[in-house]
Amino acid sequence: MDHVAAPTTIPEIETLTDRREALEDIGQNCSTNPTMGDIINRRFSRRSFMAGSLAVAAISTTVSPLAILTADDARANGSLSSFDFTEIEAGVDETHHVAEGYDADILLRWGDKLFSDSPDFDPMNQTAAAQEKLFGYNNDYIGFIPLDGDPDHGLLVVNHEYTNAEIMFPKFATVVKEMKDGKEEEKVKLGDYTKELVDIEMAAHGGTIVEIRKVDGKWQPVLDGKYNRRLTATTEMQLSGPVAGHERVKTPSDPTGKKVFGTINNCAGGVTAWGTYVMAEENFNGYFGGEIAEDHPEFKQLKRLGAPGGTYEWSKFYDRFDVSKEPTEANRFGWIVEVDVINPTSVPKKRTALGRFKHEGAESVVSKDGRVVLYSGDDERFDYVYKFVTKAAFNPDDRAANMDILDEGTLYVAKFDADGTVEWMPLTQGEGPLTEANGFASQADVLINTRLASDALGATKMDRPEDIQPNPKTGKVYVMLTNNTKRKADQIDNANPRAENAFGHIIEITETDGDFASTKSKWDVLLKCGDPSVAEVGASFSTATTKNGWFGMPDNCAIDTDGRLWVSTDGNNEKDTGRTDGIWAVETEGDARGTSKLFFRVPVGAEMCGPSFNPTSDTFFVAVQHPGDAGLATFEAPATRWPDFKDDMPVRPAVLAITKQGGGKIG
Ligand code: FEO
Ligand code: CA
Ligand code: CA
Ligand code: CA
Repeated sequence: MDHVAAPTTIPEIETLTDRREALEDIGQNCSTNPTMGDIINRRFSRRSFMAGSLAVAAISTTVSPLAILTADDARANGSLSSFDFTEIEAGVDETHHVAEGYDADILLRWGDKLFSDSPDFDPMNQTAAAQEKLFGYNNDYIGFIPLDGDPDHGLLVVNHEYTNAEIMFPKFATVVKEMKDGKEEEKVKLGDYTKELVDIEMAAHGGTIVEIRKVDGKWQPVLDGKYNRRLTATTEMQLSGPVAGHERVKTPSDPTGKKVFGTINNCAGGVTAWGTYVMAEENFNGYFGGEIAEDHPEFKQLKRLGAPGGTYEWSKFYDRFDVSKEPTEANRFGWIVEVDVINPTSVPKKRTALGRFKHEGAESVVSKDGRVVLYSGDDERFDYVYKFVTKAAFNPDDRAANMDILDEGTLYVAKFDADGTVEWMPLTQGEGPLTEANGFASQADVLINTRLASDALGATKMDRPEDIQPNPKTGKVYVMLTNNTKRKADQIDNANPRAENAFGHIIEITETDGDFASTKSKWDVLLKCGDPSVAEVGASFSTATTKNGWFGMPDNCAIDTDGRLWVSTDGNNEKDTGRTDGIWAVETEGDARGTSKLFFRVPVGAEMCGPSFNPTSDTFFVAVQHPGDAGLATFEAPATRWPDFKDDMPVRPAVLAITKQGGGKIG
């Protein structure tokens, strides 16, 4: 079975590692095959005791000539590069690094004030009421929406994906010893949750909308900005589109099936052509607890989504997160949420026409005929790539006319054929196997059960689809596939060509005649990621890529105003790769295609998120997520105290604004 869902009861989860694994690693592979991580570990430990020429000789027997290419050699080939910056060294330390000649300034940290009446951040005495007026935790997606067309003044929209209780709450987590396989191991154990802590977590989730402005070359938040707003796991929202009002989304507290409270696990997202903020609800399953009987009509689809996942303990204090008590509440999460940022009291809308799964992102583009196309990956091993095409065309002259166009259209799932064709298969009730006899009595059933519908259509099982970015300049679309160590040798296909794919790859889709709405496209592999100097990895970076220039685990990406691709990563770490996550500039065209250069890297334990340019590409906004989350990190002993480096201040996720010294385009 490819899709083994999480247990239907909350397991006795005590340690943080167990919780994370429960969230991320729903598929289980019981084999003892070495993973690519093991192979890399072996290589790194080998390297550590080999010295001088012996090491070079030993390595070069297993490696392509590229392995010995130095940074200087590659820079000599720099004429190939369309990126004009000197790459930084990959590595791991307590702080962030950006290419020489650039400033990376902290713009907003967890706990920063967003309103003139926000309280001061007091990490030792946190409350939900204070958190609701402060910048949230674990910034992921960042979008910039200019005000009055000004590239130096606008609204920054930021997702707050999840919370790390162990490094967020004082005196909560402790390091404990535990026996595993006959060996004593140290682990971080969470304390006992209270309702107060859960309420702070809920208030730290969601998103932030904040006015920002460049003053004397430096970006600043505007504290009394009239559009400033926090969205949380309790903000009132509306279900709209085909699922709104359906029996399967009615709950004891909402007999209308239209009124939902909150949005959770907002990973990547997007900004539409009409200036709304779209947030993707990703691992929502982890917030649900309780048990659901195997013969319950919602059991099968919840299981396919790994719900209840039991990562958080919200269900102990709120019945709606307990599937035993309110089995349909989970059907109200896993959607794309659209927010009208120009009206701070607007009710955000969950656009159900775009399907329900672990939405990673929601980047959109206007097609040739004016219809809007929104791409979204379903981030799980062996899950799928989607696009949604609106029925109505975007109206550039009337913002109001666009406000509900995401409610009607066609959702497609991708089949990557071996001959390089992508077939976009419509998820439309009544077509093909999507019939009442197969459990799809209405379009609402197709959308609530999107994964099951896509299974029935025979969509291509991918290696964790994350951010998907259309390039409006070229008609191409970039699909980040993070990794999939569960793929076995007999499960590889042309679009997922590596077994035990530890480092992920990037697929480039070429939409037919540049028409993003087309239902048949072409695809190609742009990059197989990982260290190209380790032959077993099978990476495909160009030979001009230096030892700093390769990366693994592509997650988010952005296209700049010149149509160039920038990729951020999730999962590089000291243990496996000797480097942190960061942002790499990737060539996609001409002879340089497949060459990559390191521009920015995060402090230890962090993941790189949110890269987003302002409209003139002279500012690059980046999000440092879960810094300090490495090893046995607790509030009292994080792996770094970035970005404040003060003993009385916890490590804090933060958004940075990167600008070029003296001004000018990034890269
Ligand atoms: Fe939230 Fe798929 O990363
Ligand atoms: Ca992501
Ligand atoms: Ca993106
Ligand atoms: Ca991620």
